[in-house]
Amino acid sequence: MGISILVVVLSYLMGSFSFSYWFARLLKGIDIRSRGSGNAGATNMLRVVGKGPAAAVFILDALKGTAAVALAAWLSGTPTMMMLAGVMAIIGHNWPVFLGFRGGKGIATTIGVTAFLTLLAALISGVTAILAIILTRYVSLGSLIFAVSLPIMILLLDYPSPYVYLSLVITVMAIIRHASNIKRLLKGTESKLGSSQQQRS
Ligand code: G3P
Repeated sequence: MGISILVVVLSYLMGSFSFSYWFARLLKGIDIRSRGSGNAGATNMLRVVGKGPAAAVFILDALKGTAAVALAAWLSGTPTMMMLAGVMAIIGHNWPVFLGFRGGKGIATTIGVTAFLTLLAALISGVTAILAIILTRYVSLGSLIFAVSLPIMILLLDYPSPYVYLSLVITVMAIIRHASNIKRLLKGTESKLGSSQQQRS
């Protein structure tokens, strides 16, 4: 029980470290959450700060998810605890305790978690998402396709059942965090990749 609580708390705290927030503060002296889409994530870093910092944020946001799962694998090793650690890291990224619970949308961290636990499902969903982004230039649409297809792939590929249940939690969180993107996609006002303009709503 003690180990489980430790894993949950540490994973949440790891996820709460927002690389986009700190990089944007250090490199440009801005709060990334007040610019572009208002999201503390790699896509908004690309829009507001630039390619290099955006790539670094993407990799580090993914790695903190991987690190949380690796910690759970080391301390516990059960599928439930490993996936729960991943979910907690994503919760930390989305609602970080250090930043007044205003963070990102959790996709890079989800990639880091699922690359560790359910690699084939992550690859299939990831390739599908990348194709959608190439075709439409909407990163948010690709993110949503990734998040929605994940539990389906995890189920079809016969991963342990805790992975299926907890990946559904990840999907619901991704949809909630992309609510403003979904509205803009439906209105046709969502920002395309490469465009610097983005309405906040
Ligand atoms: O992963 C975040 C992405 O799907 C959307 O980011 O900044 O366009 O809201 P953004």
